[in-house]
Amino acid sequence: MLEVAYIEGGPVLRGVVRAAGSKNAALPILAAALLTEEVVTLHGVPDLSDIRFMAEILRHQGAEVAQPRPGTWVIRAATLTHRTPYDLVRKMRASVCLLGALVGRLRRAEMAIPGGCVIGPRPIDLHLRGLETLGCAVAVEAGLVHVDATAARGIEVDMGGPMGSTVLGTANLVMAATLTPGVTRILAAAREPEVVDLCTLLTKMGARISGQGTGTIVVEGVAALRGCEHTIIPDRIEVGTYLVAGAITGGDVTVEGAEPAHLEAFLAKLREAGVGVETAPGRIRAFGPPTRPVDVVTAPYPGFPTDLQAQFMALQLRVDGRSTFTEKIYPARFMHAAELQRMGADIAVEGAVATVHGGKPLSGAPVMASDLRASAALILAALVAKGETWVQRLYHLDRGYERFEERLSQLGAAVRRLPANAMPKDLRED
Ligand code: EPU
Repeated sequence: MLEVAYIEGGPVLRGVVRAAGSKNAALPILAAALLTEEVVTLHGVPDLSDIRFMAEILRHQGAEVAQPRPGTWVIRAATLTHRTPYDLVRKMRASVCLLGALVGRLRRAEMAIPGGCVIGPRPIDLHLRGLETLGCAVAVEAGLVHVDATAARGIEVDMGGPMGSTVLGTANLVMAATLTPGVTRILAAAREPEVVDLCTLLTKMGARISGQGTGTIVVEGVAALRGCEHTIIPDRIEVGTYLVAGAITGGDVTVEGAEPAHLEAFLAKLREAGVGVETAPGRIRAFGPPTRPVDVVTAPYPGFPTDLQAQFMALQLRVDGRSTFTEKIYPARFMHAAELQRMGADIAVEGAVATVHGGKPLSGAPVMASDLRASAALILAALVAKGETWVQRLYHLDRGYERFEERLSQLGAAVRRLPANAMPKDLRED
């Protein structure tokens, strides 16, 4: 059943919310569980549609996947198939991170190539180039990529591309290299905390990895990996989203279970925007409202995350003056701008730069979520818009936020999830 979010703007958000585990750490980590025939137990796995879908793919590959209690997944991949069909891959682009796990464990993979998505073309050329440099035979045919790692040996692999490093590309190379003979040096490696978390898991499984968190990761291949138990890091993007929710309403929100060190560029920008920010080990507090325009440039970690660009844009709609947003990761990731304009925002997009003239009154409207982070941004803007907002295509939100509307409500927001047919017929998309 299709659902919508119904938001009445106005309430000021106050209180404490707990961070869930990171979606983007959990996805490659679930794939990495295929690297051993032993049991891998994961805690802090968020309850999201993308995660449930990844579990479905692991089952398709032959793994036993159980969820004994909320947040804990137990995976045992005794025997596996190396084939992953288009039907599974097309629904979730992140399924590409199976490639490294299958190549590592089975020394071969045959996987459908994921298409683009609404935030950009999202090619996997760097993943394939990396595997080829490692000595894999890589062939693309009829929408499938065939990888044969029989001849793979540790070597220096440069993962750099036009936009800098690649997160899942690095994850794939690290996973493949753990079981590849010799020493693999990955240059221009992604430094994201999610890649570090993957390396932490792999190390527990017996992999020999150093340099994670820097631009050069060194992996010394081992003969086999073993089972382990691991707790996923908190979701820095979710944490940032709740902090914006508090600040945009001029409220006061504390996120517990957060890791301040993972959000430095974002927190610096919040402070620059005039939002009060306090951090302590395991918690971050933000109190608004924002008072100053800022210029945001997204970049690979430790830069400002592209996955918080849309939410920060919503925040800056409140501030008099001109803020700019420059996308250095996904130059066309501004689908939310057009929807925010429907709520009265003054945003001009030119190429990879969006210019916001903030301080204009926002009014509730029926709007359409185009992707995960855009849906969050629309809900955030709706919190301070006059009147009612209906956000359609809510399934985008459920890919990456666990019970978002429930948790915003606990902070005082007037947000409800409703069946799409509860929306006035003349406002609906169908
Ligand atoms: N790129 C290439 N060739 C490649 C791979 C990437 O040109 O082979 C380009 C991309 O088109 C993009 C840039 O390099 O312009 C960075 O892409 P990257 O590979 O780092 O992205 P990803 O690993 O596919 C992950 C997150 C995204 C997040 C990006 C950037 C997961 C599951 N996804 O994607 O998360 O935006 O890193 O930080 O980890 C989200 O959660 O909403 C989301 C989209």
